[in-house]
Amino acid sequence: MYNAPLFLLIIIAGAGDGAVPPPNARPCASAATNSYPFCNASLPFPARARSLLSLLTLDEKIAQLSNTAAGVPRLGIPPFEWWSESLHGVCDNGPGVNFSSGPVRSATIFPQIILSAAAFNRSLWRAVAEAIAVEARAMHNAGQAGLTFWAPNINVFRDPRWGRGQETPGEDPAVVSAYSVEYVKGFQGEYGDEGRMMLSACCKHYIAYDLEKWEGFARYTFNAEVNEQDMSDTYQPPFRSCIQEGRASCLMCSYNQVNGVPACARKDILQKARDEWGFQGYITSDCDAVAIIHENQTYTISDEDSVAVVLKAGMDINCGSFLIRHTKSAIKKGKIQEEDINHALFNLFSVQLRLGFFDEANKNQWFTQLGPNNVCTQEHRELAAEAVRQGTVLLKNDNNFLPLKRSEVGHIAVIGPAANDPYILGGDYTGVPCDSTTTFVKETEDHDRVSLLLPGRQMDLILIIASVTKKPLILVLMGGGPVDVSFAKHDPHIASILWIGYPGEVGGHVLPEILFGKYNPGGKLPITWYPESFTSVPMNDMNMRANASRGYPGRTYRFYTGDVVYGFGYGLSYSKYSYNILLAPKKISLSHSSVPDLISRKPAYTRRDGLDYVQVEDIASCEALQFPVHISVSNDGVMDGSHAVLLFARSKPNFPGSPVKQLVGFESVHTAAGTTTNVEITIDPCKIMSSANPEGRRVLFLGTHVLMVGDEEYELLIEV
Ligand SMILES: *[C@@H]1O[C@H](CO)[C@@H](O)[C@H](O)[C@H]1NC(C)=O
Ligand SMILES: *[C@@H]1O[C@H](CO)[C@@H](O)[C@H](O)[C@H]1NC(C)=O
Ligand SMILES: *[C@@H]1O[C@H](CO)[C@@H](O)[C@H](O)[C@H]1NC(C)=O
Ligand SMILES: *[C@@H]1O[C@H](CO)[C@@H](O)[C@H](O)[C@H]1NC(C)=O
Ligand SMILES: *[C@@H]1O[C@H](CO)[C@@H](O)[C@H](O)[C@H]1NC(C)=O
Repeated sequence: MYNAPLFLLIIIAGAGDGAVPPPNARPCASAATNSYPFCNASLPFPARARSLLSLLTLDEKIAQLSNTAAGVPRLGIPPFEWWSESLHGVCDNGPGVNFSSGPVRSATIFPQIILSAAAFNRSLWRAVAEAIAVEARAMHNAGQAGLTFWAPNINVFRDPRWGRGQETPGEDPAVVSAYSVEYVKGFQGEYGDEGRMMLSACCKHYIAYDLEKWEGFARYTFNAEVNEQDMSDTYQPPFRSCIQEGRASCLMCSYNQVNGVPACARKDILQKARDEWGFQGYITSDCDAVAIIHENQTYTISDEDSVAVVLKAGMDINCGSFLIRHTKSAIKKGKIQEEDINHALFNLFSVQLRLGFFDEANKNQWFTQLGPNNVCTQEHRELAAEAVRQGTVLLKNDNNFLPLKRSEVGHIAVIGPAANDPYILGGDYTGVPCDSTTTFVKETEDHDRVSLLLPGRQMDLILIIASVTKKPLILVLMGGGPVDVSFAKHDPHIASILWIGYPGEVGGHVLPEILFGKYNPGGKLPITWYPESFTSVPMNDMNMRANASRGYPGRTYRFYTGDVVYGFGYGLSYSKYSYNILLAPKKISLSHSSVPDLISRKPAYTRRDGLDYVQVEDIASCEALQFPVHISVSNDGVMDGSHAVLLFARSKPNFPGSPVKQLVGFESVHTAAGTTTNVEITIDPCKIMSSANPEGRRVLFLGTHVLMVGDEEYELLIEV
């Protein structure tokens, strides 16, 4: 008989709380109030927003400045709850969602974002966001959820210890950007003119927020010291894409300070979104982020000064009651004018108008017809399962131990902290799962890890089992962050290692499909798995780039110079794939482009060390420089499979601080066994082959650049 493998479930991490249900009542519904111009659907939104503003008293205005906005009964306006959550499924972390106030008792829990990210499949990300939106809107229609949701979380997963890194699509700014666009477009479902949308999504947490509590540092008071270079090519890009391409209607400013100024008071950073990226929407603070500005950060000398500094910076509502309590006195003391509030309300009302809040539900819009039957559907559960399948990463598979053959397996022993429970963790921001027999452990925000090793005595347990069984083990890792599993990587008793993130409620069904080869895993790590020694790096050090003179190894695959346990983009399959770059330009000539005046100002700059480069802002038409790369993907194995093709680039000219390599494109492909499939990836050199200089300007090096996919390398020359 074949050796019966042991199958370990190792649990690593999981958060939530709740409060008041929003009625789905609408203003303008009754004849007594619908004659106001703000109710008049034939007027443009700005006119309607101004009309409403003009009718409100100062007290009524102030009562709008909280996530729980008061109603205005004399105008027929019901209360409005701005805070609902939908990270990887509708959940009740915010007061906007209530699973017991109506017919919808649960919602589909999709896998935690870090796992879906590992699929590197934009269509999957879009489909999941659309499905969450259907359930969210159905719950809204049933009076159990709001219209404005505070997802996605698009902070770059900068440090492997970050407790909320699991909520993000990983460490690469280009991947996080791409994810944000799919989520927001899928979720908001924009339609018609005037920016109408079915729901509102929120890009959070703006900006440089990625530490909960580490040593003496806490997210509420942490001052993130970020240099211009890292701001420009790591921290900022996801927010820019989320707004510019995704057209998100909300931004959340974070608790932390950025270079000594609270994020919600950084007028320059908040206005950049509106002025440079075309942001149309509202800016909310993270919860109680304004209260802490005086009380805990002592950045201002009074609460009224805190009110002034955030409203003048461009924040529109505060999550919490702080503005309700202190705005009147800020006006009395002359710290702000009523005009400062009007700005905020105009933005808030504009979003409500775009959401159709002031209009009678339009029966012609499909989403107004959604109801309880559209939640927890078989289709959504299947999509959740599909996300788990596509995201699961095979990290080790000695001698093709997996997939198991059913006929040859005698017993499977399941051991580990989760072994007695049929459930799988959902990770944080998890709602009530559709399958009520499933129980979830919820772990919390506000925590970072202190170690990259497995928690408790799990490693000892595994090693003991490995040494006594003499039978091959399969290690199944669950959790949202990287773990140092070097011991298992090198232990010959452990034949295979699979990472399944936090797979959500369907994880238990999908795992056997993968173990027995019904599905061929093709996920790739969206984060670097560092060795435990990385914990000597101070978590509060926001520098991305390595600095040898102080022994700083740098962060993420773009800059990290040390050893890895498993690298970004790593992931095996039951098949073997090989790549060929079939077609790409040999030369990109900036001055011989079809666009006249391509380089509008100085043609190029030369650094003191002789390297030539151009500043991206000086290139008149970046679009004209885009080029396609054709790649053939051969499946040299015996199983069909899907996996992500990751195309990287590096520039041969490099200097301290330039990235080791960068992801310039990715595409998920399905390839049948023994066949070849072609895939085309379009590269935007300005955006993706450039990097920031120390002043934060994006520069493109002249000279040889190398495109890399798998073992295949391809050189191309960028010249003026
Ligand atoms: C949810 O709704 C139920 C039933 O209406 C209510 O009793 C409960 O207080 C609400 N929960 C929250 C957190 O608001
Ligand atoms: C709505 O606005 C339009 C355009 O200004 C106007 O012609 C119409 O009379 C208004 N309707 C009502 C009911 O006031
Ligand atoms: C802020 O300071 C107040 C008063 O000292 C304290 O009660 C509260 O816990 C602090 N909040 C945070 C988030 O540190
Ligand atoms: C590297 O660290 C040293 C010592 O702290 C510092 O003087 C230097 O400016 C740093 N270099 C860069 C490029 O940040
Ligand atoms: C990407 O995801 C979509 C949605 O699940 C799926 O239909 C498609 O097959 C996936 N692509 C590949 C190559 O697996």
